Amino acid sequence: MKEDPVNFWNEMYRTDVFRYGTEPNIFFKEQLDTLASGNVLLPAEGEGRNAVYAAVKGWKVTAFDISEKGRQKALRLSKEKEVSIDYQLSGVLEFETHEKFDVIGLSYAHFPAEIRKEANQRLLQFLKPGGIVIFEAFAKAQLGKASGGPKNEAMLFSIKEIKEEFSPLEFTLLREETIELSEGSHHKGEAEIIRFIAIKK
Ligand SMILES: C[S@@+](CC[C@H](N)C(=O)[O-])C[C@H]1O[C@@H](n2cnc3c(N)ncnc32)[C@H](O)[C@@H]1O
Repeated sequence: MKEDPVNFWNEMYRTDVFRYGTEPNIFFKEQLDTLASGNVLLPAEGEGRNAVYAAVKGWKVTAFDISEKGRQKALRLSKEKEVSIDYQLSGVLEFETHEKFDVIGLSYAHFPAEIRKEANQRLLQFLKPGGIVIFEAFAKAQLGKASGGPKNEAMLFSIKEIKEEFSPLEFTLLREETIELSEGSHHKGEAEIIRFIAIKK
C-alpha cells in the first residue's frame, strides 16, 4: 500500500532536530540577497529554514506545507529569530491566496509525480508579472546517491521536465550540476541537483 505523504513527512519531522538544518538553502539565500525585499511564497516549506531567513531579511513571507510537524518547527524557529511568517497547513493543489508574489522559492519541493506538473503550473498563477522563481531540487542523476532526496526517479527532475512544467517562464539561469550538500543531517554529501532562476513575463 502507498504511504500517505502527510504521515510520512510528520514522521520525518518528528524529532526536535531540524532535518535540513536551520540555515537557508545557499542558492535561495544568494539569489534572494540580490533582490529588493517584497513578498515571497514558499511552497512545501518544511521546517521553515528559508521562510525564517527571508523574514529576517525583511521579506513578507507566506509559506505552506502538508506537514503540521514541519509547521510547528517553522513557527518555533521564527519565534526564536523574533520574526513573523504566515505558514499555512495546505497541500499544493489546495493552497489558495488572493496575494500575488514577487518571488516564489522552491527548495527541494519534490511533489508526487502524478500531481507535479499541475502543482507547478498552479503555483505560477500566484506570481506577479515580472516575478521570479528561485528553484533548487535533485536531478534524476541523484538516484542511488546517499546525500538525500526521493528514491523514486519520477519525483526527481530533468531539465526537459522543468522547461515543460514551468512554461511559459523565461529562464535566466538553468543548470544541472554536482555540488557538495551540507544542509542538516539529511542533505549531506555529493549531490546531483538542478537550479534555475526564471521570470514571469
Ligand atoms: C525535502 S522537503 C523540503 C522542505 C523545505 N522546502 C526545505 O528545503 O527545507 C519536501 C517537503 O515537501 C512537502 N510536501 C510534499 N508533498 C506536498 C504537497 N502535496 N503539498 C505541499 N507540500 C508537500 C513535505 O511535507 C516536505 O516538507
